Amino acid sequence: MQWEGVIKHYFKYLPVTEKTPVVTLLEGNTPLILAKSISRRLGKNINLYLKYEGLNPTASFKDRGMTVAVSCALERGAKAIMCASTGNTSASAAAYAAKSGLTCIVLIPEGAIALGKLSQALLHGAKVVAIKGNFDDALKLVKEITSKYPIALVNSLNPDRIEGQKTAAFEICDVLGEAPHFQAMPVGNAGNITAYWKGYKEYKDMGKIDSLPRILGFQASGAAPLVEGYPFKNPETVATAIRIGNPARWGEAIAASKESDGLIEKVTDEEIIKAYKMLAREEGIFVEPASAASIAGIMKLDKMGFFEAEKGSAREVNIVCILTGHGLKDPNIAIKESSPPEAVPPEEEAVLEAVEFEV
Ligand code: F0G
Repeated sequence: MQWEGVIKHYFKYLPVTEKTPVVTLLEGNTPLILAKSISRRLGKNINLYLKYEGLNPTASFKDRGMTVAVSCALERGAKAIMCASTGNTSASAAAYAAKSGLTCIVLIPEGAIALGKLSQALLHGAKVVAIKGNFDDALKLVKEITSKYPIALVNSLNPDRIEGQKTAAFEICDVLGEAPHFQAMPVGNAGNITAYWKGYKEYKDMGKIDSLPRILGFQASGAAPLVEGYPFKNPETVATAIRIGNPARWGEAIAASKESDGLIEKVTDEEIIKAYKMLAREEGIFVEPASAASIAGIMKLDKMGFFEAEKGSAREVNIVCILTGHGLKDPNIAIKESSPPEAVPPEEEAVLEAVEFEV
C-alpha cells in the first residue's frame, strides 16, 4: 500500500474536512533510524534515533506544514501564497504552489541561502526576490504585504503550518510505541519546536502515549536569541537555515522547553560541523548543517554530564534527534569541508597510489 501523505494519514488530527482540496506530494512517513555508532558513544542503555526529515519530497520537514497550509489556503480561495525564507520554506512553498496552481512569492536574504534551496524555488517557478537584509527583515515585509493584499502567508506564523508539522511527533510515537525520553532539534524561527510540542501533548491527551519527552532545542551560538534572551541584530552562522535573530514563535519555544523540563542551548559552528561530519562518516547520513545542530547539542550536553542519571539507570533511554533537512541542500559546505579529489593519469598504478591502497 502506498503512503498517502500526512493529511490523509492523520486526517482527524488536522484542520481539514472532506471538502478540503488536498494538495500533497506524499510527504511524511520518514524513517526513524537507530544511530548505532553515536548511541555507543553515549552509553550502553542509550538509543539515539534519527528522524530523517531530509527524505521528504522537497528534502526538508517544511513539506508537512506546507501540505496543510497550501490545502487550507486553496480552500479559502487564495490565488497566491507568500513567505520569507532562509531557503527550505521557499523550496517547499514553491513546490506545493506548483502542484496546486497557486502563484508563489518568496523573499530571501540576499546571498545567504544555500544553493540547493535556491535552485528548487527557481525551478518550481516561484517569484523569488532577494532582500538586501536578513531573514527577520524579509519576514517583517511579508507580514506587512500579506496583511494588506489577498495573499496567504505560509511562514510558520500560519497555524496550519504548525498543525501539519506536528505529525512528525505522531510518527515518532507510532514507531516507538511511546514518546521518546528526550527529543533534540535545531531552532530557528521556532515553528517546528512549537509543532512537535503540540503534537506530543495532543497524542498524550488522546491516550496514545503515557508520557511526554523533554524537549531540547539548539541554536547556533551566532544566532542564539532564545538562549541569550535578546534578539540578535546580525545573526551569523554556517547553518544558514537557522540564521535568525528574532524568532516569530519566541514565547512558544520557551514554553515548550519549560513545560517539558527541557532546555534551549547553543552550539558553535565548529561543534555543528563536527556533528555534520560525524553523521556522514559514522552513520551514512547526509544532512545540512542546521540539522547537525541537534547532534552537536546532544554531544555538548553529554560532555556536560547532562545524561549521567540516565546512564546509571537500568531502563533503556530513547533520544530522538530531528534531522530537519537533507545534505544536498547545501553542497558548497560539504565540498568546503572535504579535500577535493586529486586528478591523476588514467592508470591503475596512479589510482592505487592516490587512494593509498595497501594489499
Ligand atoms: N532546520 C532547517 C533545515 C530549517 O530550514 C529550519 C528553518 C530549521 C531547522 C528551524 O526550524 O524555524 O521552525 O525553528 N527554516 C526556515 C526556512 C526558517 O525559511 O526555511 P524553525
